[in-house]
Amino acid sequence: MEYAIEIKGLTKDYETGFWRKKKVRALEDLTLKVRRGIIFGFLGGNGAGKTTTIKTLMRLQFPTAGSATILGHDIADVQMHQRIGYCPENPYFYDYLTARELLSHFGELFGIPSSDRFDKCETLLGAVGLDPKDRGKQLRKFSKGMLQRVGLAQALLNDPEVVFFDEPMSGLDPVGRREIRELIAGLRDKGTTVFMSTHILADIEALCDEVAILRKGKLAAAGDLAELLAGHEGDRVLEVNVQSVRADAIQDEVDLIAGAELFQKPNGVAIQISDESDLEAVLAVTRRHGGSLISVQPVKQSLEDLFVNESND
Ligand SMILES: Nc1ncnc2c1ncn2[C@@H]1O[C@H](COP(=O)(O)OP(=O)(O)O)[C@@H](O)[C@H]1O
Ligand SMILES: [Mg+2]
Repeated sequence: MEYAIEIKGLTKDYETGFWRKKKVRALEDLTLKVRRGIIFGFLGGNGAGKTTTIKTLMRLQFPTAGSATILGHDIADVQMHQRIGYCPENPYFYDYLTARELLSHFGELFGIPSSDRFDKCETLLGAVGLDPKDRGKQLRKFSKGMLQRVGLAQALLNDPEVVFFDEPMSGLDPVGRREIRELIAGLRDKGTTVFMSTHILADIEALCDEVAILRKGKLAAAGDLAELLAGHEGDRVLEVNVQSVRADAIQDEVDLIAGAELFQKPNGVAIQISDESDLEAVLAVTRRHGGSLISVQPVKQSLEDLFVNESND
């Protein structure tokens, strides 16, 4: 099976300092495969190496070691780059162009015939949610979120088969984020492969089929999002939520149930147990103190737990 993206042993050292003698290893031996037609989430905290990876794949900088292919072609292949799209982190464009002019300019570079260009640009500016009244304004008057939308539109001009979005939600308000989420989900529906970096976990949970977690330049975890979360469930923990009872009133009795943990909540308590057979005992204690059951639910490992576990030392 041909992958959309295959990265093999990618390593990047930045040379810093006045004499460029100090080396900073931003990426170490990254190996990763991305299937076609999915939304792939590239996760990691600040400085983890996400932008470094994407810029290297885009051939904006050379790797120190390793190689990568996109759509089966080496990243050095210029022809291949015509079939992909890229929106950088914090896109920056020439300030005195309007959104329309900028897009039209890129459209010309991509070789879109002038007869189609206007319609194509308008469709895309609409798709990324840029208001028609803003399309003729100079970009220097744009907010970060509006520039982000222009960047996304620019990345989609050539109907790319694979797109790389570096923190596509940055600068957007919650409404804007939802719009862009829908746009990205729509790309997958069309068969486009989306590789997006982000540190916003909610966006990953809402969008991504597969993820990779990067920690200090190294791959910490990768795979199907659902499987990654399931694999970390460990012991099944049940949470019993009870209202109209205070934690201090039942603490002593809960302590007698081995492994039970008690938490004060705004309107009652939550008791976590790892052995289902303790459920009756827990309920009996809370009822004796006037509590009434709200819910019993399994405690699922969230992406946040996984992310924190994998991105810390
Ligand atoms: N041009 C550069 N010169 C020197 N160090 C850099 C450069 N770009 C990034 N770095 C360093 O490389 C590491 C990874 O950065 P980056 O890829 O931007 O991470 P992320 O996008 O995950 O936040 C960081 O430690 C960062 O300081
Ligand atoms: Mg970055």
